[in-house]
Amino acid sequence: MRATLIVAIVLIFMNASVLAQGQTLTLSSANIDPSDHASLVRGAKAYSRYCLSCHSLQYQHYKQVAKGLQLSHGELQRDIMITPNTHWTMPMNAAFSNENMKQWLGRPAPDLTYITKQYSPDWLYTYLHAFYTDPTQPLGVNNWLVPNVSMPNVLQGLQGPTQAIYSKSSTNLLLGVKVSGAGVLNPKQYDQFVRDLVNYLNYTADPSAEQRYNIGWWVLGFLSLFTMLAWLLKKEYWRDAH
Ligand code: HEC
Repeated sequence: MRATLIVAIVLIFMNASVLAQGQTLTLSSANIDPSDHASLVRGAKAYSRYCLSCHSLQYQHYKQVAKGLQLSHGELQRDIMITPNTHWTMPMNAAFSNENMKQWLGRPAPDLTYITKQYSPDWLYTYLHAFYTDPTQPLGVNNWLVPNVSMPNVLQGLQGPTQAIYSKSSTNLLLGVKVSGAGVLNPKQYDQFVRDLVNYLNYTADPSAEQRYNIGWWVLGFLSLFTMLAWLLKKEYWRDAH
């Protein structure tokens, strides 16, 4: 029973094609919905709680996020502005400085405002599913997508401990990552949690995308109406000319 459960979990986290190809990692699909407002709000709260201590979103101001996602003042103060000494007109700076980060982890944590443009939503979704325990690393964790990463696995408590699956023929050949114990969230909930985070980071990279998309429909509607009117007008004029 336990073995079946583990196999099922492994299959959820790994694409069948990854198994077939061996070492190559195929990105999992993030399946985000930029028009899902509730998902964006959950993602914003999760970001402040789990990522903002180290990663700034310096091209976003708290007030932009509050306005864009229609957050109440209470929500903004309680769930989003959780780094010390912040005012709602300020950019979303990280709590720790780059110097601190270099001292503790060896590297600064990059700003993540444009991370989904730099890579892709699928890349980020896969990255947050690719951490595994690795005692040879300074922090005791590694990442399949970014080998020798110096970021701690901050979501381990939610996802549960994870282990690498190595090929039978070689311990250097990584085939996948499996969840090996219980986390606060079950695999499906964890997928949704990461999807919300990715959705939010996709939003921060281009906050007006959804608005432009909606305006686009109005523009298309106007153009079709205008074309029809122009055609009717042309018909009217040419009726007399014949
Ligand atoms: C304790 C500090 C810390 C926290 C908290 C943290 N990170 Fe990181 N993160 C880092 C550091 C340091 C790096 C740089 C790693 C490297 O270059 O090896 C990094 C790198 C990254 C990268 C870039 C990888 C690349 O190769 O460009 C992404 C994406 C990322 N983190 C996402 C997140 C997300 C999402 C969260 C919240 C769920 C988060 N991080 C929480 C410290 C942190």
